Amino acid sequence: MRSYLFVPGDAPRKLEKGLASGADALLLDLEDSVAPDAKPKAREIVRDYLLAQASRKDRPRLFVRVNALDTGLTDADLDVVMAARPDGILFPKSRHGGDVTHLDAKITAREALHNIEEGTTRILVLVTESAEALFGLSNYRGSSERLDGMTWGAEDLSADLGAETNRNERGDYTDPYRLARAQCLIAAVAAGVAPIDSIYPNFRDADGLRREALEGRRDGFTGKMAIHPDQVPVINEIYTPSAESIAQAKRLIDAFAAAGNAGVISLDGQMYDQPHLKRALRLLARVKK
Ligand code: COA
Ligand code: MG
Repeated sequence: MRSYLFVPGDAPRKLEKGLASGADALLLDLEDSVAPDAKPKAREIVRDYLLAQASRKDRPRLFVRVNALDTGLTDADLDVVMAARPDGILFPKSRHGGDVTHLDAKITAREALHNIEEGTTRILVLVTESAEALFGLSNYRGSSERLDGMTWGAEDLSADLGAETNRNERGDYTDPYRLARAQCLIAAVAAGVAPIDSIYPNFRDADGLRREALEGRRDGFTGKMAIHPDQVPVINEIYTPSAESIAQAKRLIDAFAAAGNAGVISLDGQMYDQPHLKRALRLLARVKK
């Protein structure tokens, strides 16, 4: 899974366009891109949309972003959308693994109610949206069998911190957001789930997006969220392992095997040991998905 496109849940035209965007997943939003008064209607639009797409084979995976636990809206969101069997829930403003366990219980109850096989509804979680959340990153492992990915956001964090901006004059994230990004990456790997990079808000700036996506891939993220269909092809391109990197990974794995699975080998005048082998195996595992 490389690209995750946000689509406001109350925008039928965008929901329609999302299907043709090429995104691996759509994040059908009931949270921040939907005004409070529009939420009841958005739930119904999203439910009907999920039902309409249910039987389509070649469609993106469909996640619903529900409202945060402290809004009191999460249950009403789940009551409506779980009946239409989303592939998963994107859970915002999580403070720690305990919040994911709480959401898991809510989902389990609805799966039982709607005759959905237990555990099929997956969870992606936003883990850096408040100062408090940055101290809760150590305990996501084991918080839910449903947890597939962790991602992060700079906008809500900057609001919580009282910051004037989250980027410097050059357009790069300032320190608090670089910390949040790195912590999300590390926490996701520690929890054994996919690290997914945040959105690039300036959707007309394809060069800036490309730069940021390349940085994310370099550091270990395996996909990135988007807010506009134009961003999807760039993200897909950058997060699709290249034929060259796949061939090189295979060569390395073969060379280890040929050396009787030695601890360390030399190839093209370079030393390769276990971390390199692990990285090559991980790359091939991603290609298979
Ligand atoms: N998903 C699907 N389709 C989208 C889309 C999205 N996220 N964003 C734009 N489109 C569609 C538009 O409907 C438009 O189609 P049309 O001309 O056939 O009607 C086309 O893509 C071009 O859109 P454009 O005019 O360039 O953008 P806009 O000004 O209409 O919308 C945003 C800009 C930012 C409001 C819009 O991209 C958006 O809603 N993004 C998602 C916001 C969100 O979910 N935020 C929460 C997470 S941070
Ligand atoms: Mg938000």
